[in-house]
Amino acid sequence: MSATTTNQNAAGGPTRLEPAVTQRTLKRMPRRLRGVLALDDFETAARRHLPRPIFGYVAGACETGASFAANRAAFAAHAFVPRVLRDVGDRSQRRTLMGRAYEHPFGISPMGLSALAAYDGDVVLAAAARAAGIPAVMSATSLTPLERVAAEGGSRWFQAYLPGDDARIEAMLARVAAAGFDTLVLTVDVPVSGNRENNVRNGFDAPLKPSLRLAWDGAMRPRWLVGTALRTLAARGMPHFENMDALRGPPIVSRNVVRSTKGRDRLAWRHAELMRARWKGSFVLKGVLAAEDARRAREIGCDGIVVSNHGGRQLDGAIAPLEALGPIVAEAGSMAVMLESGVRRGTDVLKALALGADFVFVGRPFLFAAAIAGEAGVRHAVDLLAEEIDRDMTLLGIRTLDELSSDLLRPERP
Ligand SMILES: Cc1cc2nc3c(=O)[nH]c(=O)nc-3n(C[C@H](O)[C@H](O)[C@H](O)COP(=O)(O)O)c2cc1C
Repeated sequence: MSATTTNQNAAGGPTRLEPAVTQRTLKRMPRRLRGVLALDDFETAARRHLPRPIFGYVAGACETGASFAANRAAFAAHAFVPRVLRDVGDRSQRRTLMGRAYEHPFGISPMGLSALAAYDGDVVLAAAARAAGIPAVMSATSLTPLERVAAEGGSRWFQAYLPGDDARIEAMLARVAAAGFDTLVLTVDVPVSGNRENNVRNGFDAPLKPSLRLAWDGAMRPRWLVGTALRTLAARGMPHFENMDALRGPPIVSRNVVRSTKGRDRLAWRHAELMRARWKGSFVLKGVLAAEDARRAREIGCDGIVVSNHGGRQLDGAIAPLEALGPIVAEAGSMAVMLESGVRRGTDVLKALALGADFVFVGRPFLFAAAIAGEAGVRHAVDLLAEEIDRDMTLLGIRTLDELSSDLLRPERP
């Protein structure tokens, strides 16, 4: 049950949000959500719930964690200059993105192996997003057939990892279109997987290698073991990588199978052009950080770009998206500019929008939310962020997101 009340007038006018967490609403919430007052609290709860290798896979970043830290630091480096006495009684945080109206200016990033962290994770994330009126992007590294996530979760955004191979690209696009997806997100910052040493230290691999250590890690988290792992096996059998390609991939647990990512380092602009020509819906590149690439995306006819450093999971030391945003927006033309990596607070959302982003996405907290409390957890996460945005808009002195501009911000540091 959602703890936030959203009152809309019949004409789709202003949205008023009541606090997601008050002493009154706390009593009605599932026990495991009661201590969750902000997005970061989901991580604390998930650390106690998930086996170590799986928690580490979701929470982790690459190498020194420089980009991961830079993402948060970039938000802290901007301060608001609020305006007062503006009658902000009627507020709305609705946003139209690539021709579609959403209730809030944020969505859920694609996250692989969601069904390993949360029972039926891919469907749960999609269904919760649909109910909340926000987009959720289904990951190519998912364990649920994309057709089922489209049918049962109402998913309409699919993220692809594709090799530089025309025939495989065409086959995959045909499959995604046939399932009813209308937005294709091509992730372009993974020509090779990032160097995530924490996965090696925690005994995580994809596929997972069966071992005594893995069994012990699972046994140490009985609620996950029964509620996610055994329940999945009983309901659906051994999960497989379902959506890397037009054909089914390997199982999630395997002693000797290696998941092939061959050919991803051959992906080039000409393949993006091919996809643009073949894909009839909205086409988005995810993982753009350079203005030059934004210009190229615009020139080949992309509908949008996601400015992202993959949550600090790919090139360590890659610039924080918020720092990269200005020159990218200047090159974007009519493309939608979305931003993600490190967004955790309503104030972060408003800072990104004030600096020119049209929309933001949030990753890890939503998967932690699905892991600890399924759809109710994801709805709670949406409510918390939406309520923060509403409160922050009021304190900032604005009624609509269109009133945001860089005039409301000052750099903290010269
Ligand atoms: C567990 C996990 C799995 C991910 N899998 C994918 C993926 O399959 N495809 C993709 O484009 N990005 C993937 N990402 C990156 C996210 O889409 C997103 O860029 C990142 O999580 C945003 O940063 P945030 O978690 O700080 O919000 C993954 C991230 C996480 C945490």
